[in-house]
Amino acid sequence: MTDKIIIFDTTLRDGEQSPGASMTLEEKLQIALSLENMKVDVIEAGFPAASKGDFESVSQIAKKIKNSTICALSRAHENDINLAGKALRYANKSRIHTFIATSKIHMETKLKMNKNEVLEKAVKAIILAKKYTNDIEFSAEDAFRSDPKFLCEIFEAVINAGATTINIPDTVGYSTPSEVFELISYLIKNIKNSNKAIFSVHCHNDLGMAVANSLSAIRAGANQVECTINGIGERAGNASLEEIVMSLKTRHDLFNCETNINTKNLVPLSKLVSNITGMHVQANKAIVGLNAFAHEAGIHQDGILKNRETYEIMKATDVGWKENRMVLGKHSGRAALKTKFNKLGITFETDLIFDNIFKEFKNLADNKHEIFDDDLLSLYSHQRTKKENNKFEFINITTTTNYKKKIHKATISLTVNGNLITHDGEGNGTIDAIFDSIKKATNTYYKMDLYSVKSVTPGTDAQGEIHVRLSGKNITINGNDIDVDTIVASAKAYIDALNKIEQISSLKYQSI
Ligand code: KIV
Ligand code: ZN
Repeated sequence: MTDKIIIFDTTLRDGEQSPGASMTLEEKLQIALSLENMKVDVIEAGFPAASKGDFESVSQIAKKIKNSTICALSRAHENDINLAGKALRYANKSRIHTFIATSKIHMETKLKMNKNEVLEKAVKAIILAKKYTNDIEFSAEDAFRSDPKFLCEIFEAVINAGATTINIPDTVGYSTPSEVFELISYLIKNIKNSNKAIFSVHCHNDLGMAVANSLSAIRAGANQVECTINGIGERAGNASLEEIVMSLKTRHDLFNCETNINTKNLVPLSKLVSNITGMHVQANKAIVGLNAFAHEAGIHQDGILKNRETYEIMKATDVGWKENRMVLGKHSGRAALKTKFNKLGITFETDLIFDNIFKEFKNLADNKHEIFDDDLLSLYSHQRTKKENNKFEFINITTTTNYKKKIHKATISLTVNGNLITHDGEGNGTIDAIFDSIKKATNTYYKMDLYSVKSVTPGTDAQGEIHVRLSGKNITINGNDIDVDTIVASAKAYIDALNKIEQISSLKYQSI
């Protein structure tokens, strides 16, 4: 009998706790829809008590998503649980995930509570959560540095109170695969009512072992694994969803487990998350890195040509890489474009979104000879963040550079609430001058934490993909855009970030 492994994605919650990875409501909705499309079982949509923005995004996601279970995180506090229950009230399938720390260091120094108090609080939390849903997950924060006997006690008590999933987090990424195997086996064996709950694992990657630890937990009997797209998350991140899913699939002989995941969506989702968060995926990252299926050495290329399996244990197309080039160009029509997007696993929520993408596609086709799948994926992931009625709209940019005389000037034209404004700026380089002109034109003065340039595809006419990260007034926000002209893309990405700040500036994020 093969075991079913529940894939619990926490990109929108733990993933968003990555420094600089905050997302707008629209961006979270887009990721949630794509996760649902990929058949993720449980989507942890956020932590409603953390901020108004988190509450709102969990509520909106809960309304929209029909097939995946929507989960909201809460501390074992009455107010947190009530807010989680409220945010989930329109969900088709809802789960409350409540947690409290169980390690000596956390109980003594952070919570200032003893074991009995912690146990009592955990049980109370479950009883309250049951008012809202029957699907309740309990996590013992910092479980791998906790006393295993106490873990047995607290887990037994919360299962009796109604918890249906028991999550065992390696909160600080301290454990190793053999220790994980031992602890999970011990707990399943020694908790009297362990057969009444699903066991889950949640590993952080501080020592680079999050995926190995998660797989070890599965071998020991865990049936749920918590993970994120591209492995993003607090500090060094969480276990990467794509690596876990492909390990289970590729080494079915060893794990004898199945997931529901449509693996062809892995690469498009990885790109979407990377574009939204501005966190690039390293080229040698397993599964979704640019080089994951690239062969450089002559001996390898020769082997691959003779038999792909000499040097490949997975098929690139099984995880969403496209081997074939696009044949779309400026004469292509709407139907051809839509069909191509559908083949890439992308459907459009509204005609308006597709209409905007079609316009952008036509512009691109006028400026770029060949259009690759990656160009389309970039068009898609940039377009969906563009909102109607933005405060700032890019109109034009002109730049002058005299390298010898160290003169770098820019003149930006943009609209502010529909009124045209033109302003000059100068700086240490062309990009610096562009940003200076935008700051002056918009009267905004944020700090720039990140500016990055990436080429979407090969070729000198490739589109430049720009990410900027601005911070100030308790907000950190990512802006991005693409254009065949990197200078234009830089100006548009900066303006994109300013528009997002306008959208969310009323909401303050409080970290847990
Ligand atoms: O890492 C952790 O312990 C967590 C819990 C809230 C599950 O993210
Ligand atoms: Zn975590």
